[in-house]
Amino acid sequence: MLSAVAVASLALLAGSAPAPASAAAVNAAAIKNPLPSYISNNLGPYSPWYPLGSYRAPPSGCKIDQVNILQRHGARFPTANAGKKIQASIAKLQQNATSLTGDLEFVKDFTYSLKADVLTPLGKQESYEAGVEAYKRYSGLLGGDAEPTASLPSLVIDNTAGMNNTLDDNNCDDAPENEQYADAWLATYAVEATTRINEMAPNASVEVDDILNYMQLCGFESEYKEQVSPWCKLFTSEEFAGMEYYYDLSKYYKTGYGNALGPAQGVGYINELISRLTGDRAYVLADETQVNQTLAQNPSTFPLDRALYADFSHDNQMIAIFSAMGLSNGPSLPETGPHAGQVWVTSQLVPFAGRLVTERLTCGDETFIRFFMLYALNNADGDYLECGWKAV
Ligand SMILES: *[C@@H]1O[C@H](CO)[C@@H](O)[C@H](O)[C@H]1NC(C)=O
Ligand SMILES: *[C@@H]1O[C@H](CO)[C@@H](O)[C@H](O)[C@H]1NC(C)=O
Ligand SMILES: *[C@@H]1O[C@H](CO)[C@@H](O)[C@H](O)[C@H]1NC(C)=O
Ligand SMILES: *[C@@H]1O[C@H](CO)[C@@H](O)[C@H](O)[C@H]1NC(C)=O
Repeated sequence: MLSAVAVASLALLAGSAPAPASAAAVNAAAIKNPLPSYISNNLGPYSPWYPLGSYRAPPSGCKIDQVNILQRHGARFPTANAGKKIQASIAKLQQNATSLTGDLEFVKDFTYSLKADVLTPLGKQESYEAGVEAYKRYSGLLGGDAEPTASLPSLVIDNTAGMNNTLDDNNCDDAPENEQYADAWLATYAVEATTRINEMAPNASVEVDDILNYMQLCGFESEYKEQVSPWCKLFTSEEFAGMEYYYDLSKYYKTGYGNALGPAQGVGYINELISRLTGDRAYVLADETQVNQTLAQNPSTFPLDRALYADFSHDNQMIAIFSAMGLSNGPSLPETGPHAGQVWVTSQLVPFAGRLVTERLTCGDETFIRFFMLYALNNADGDYLECGWKAV
């Protein structure tokens, strides 16, 4: 898998796959996410992108003069490894259950038909729509002749472990996975469903991990087939909320605030961002984390004179970056279950096609930056959280 750091490439915004999806290949209105929101918005990093608010134009007297987009790929199939685990959970039912009754009857004839790793049609569309949105909002920054098909410089960076790469979380061998928090919660929220499924499938010996796999399959299969998968009706809305919290814990403790070596992995991108915002290369050159100095020293691979930058990344890395920035920080997440006042919601941070957009605004003689994710980040008064910042 590759992540690309694309410099001012609107064409590349159309897809994280090697070839940008053409307008013809993605028939906008044709592809639908069929899931009701109680499922769709509770799938953690497997939630299709959804808006939580609407974009607001800059305040009067302010002008956007630079934009940095950090974008996750659109909806994909399960990874090869996740797909194997899901199929093993299905095999328990199909091979070992002495009978399959009630809502499980469909499993007798069920065939697993998902591919691995690649984008689904919905995922291509999500990425395409992100490109269209960026074009509509920001193409003015590129001057008069910005065409959606314009081919601008882009760079593909290897994300094999050991490479210096600010867009993937493969650089920190010492960082623990911290799966114990999410696992402890799984052993709580999935218990009732485990009992229920085992009653409909005697001798299948389904465990809580299998429940997570069936719930994942509900999401993946529905997103791919554009109709609600029969796996979905096995679970309640409370259980889907429990699944979201499983991913909240999983991401929070992996590269988020719950792991000191999580946010540390976001520092490289932030140094790149500060160099672009200030026009000062010193920040990337001083980085001692994940910046690739060969790329950073070279103005053709790390230019500082552009108005629009787009980087493409993955959920765990974007979580590290958001946490290094202090976004969506709040009380820490207990493994015993959600508490009131929770700020951290994985499906709102890194859904498929999730993004962070950093705008630099000039207002008179002052410079500000604003961040957008699924929504404008608000402060308590409902106004934008705008970080006052002055170029040096
Ligand atoms: C079915 O049960 C047997 C005996 O407990 C076990 O070895 C096997 O792994 C089970 N099959 C699946 C697909 O889980
Ligand atoms: C840095 O980037 C160059 C150019 O893409 C690449 O050849 C090199 O392997 C990278 N170095 C590291 C340590 O990632
Ligand atoms: C479970 O399997 C065992 C032997 O494989 C069998 O004796 C038993 O009747 C089965 N239990 C149910 C509830 O079908
Ligand atoms: C890779 O990162 C390490 C740690 O910051 C640094 O010492 C090394 O010079 C970097 N290599 C390149 C090619 O950027």
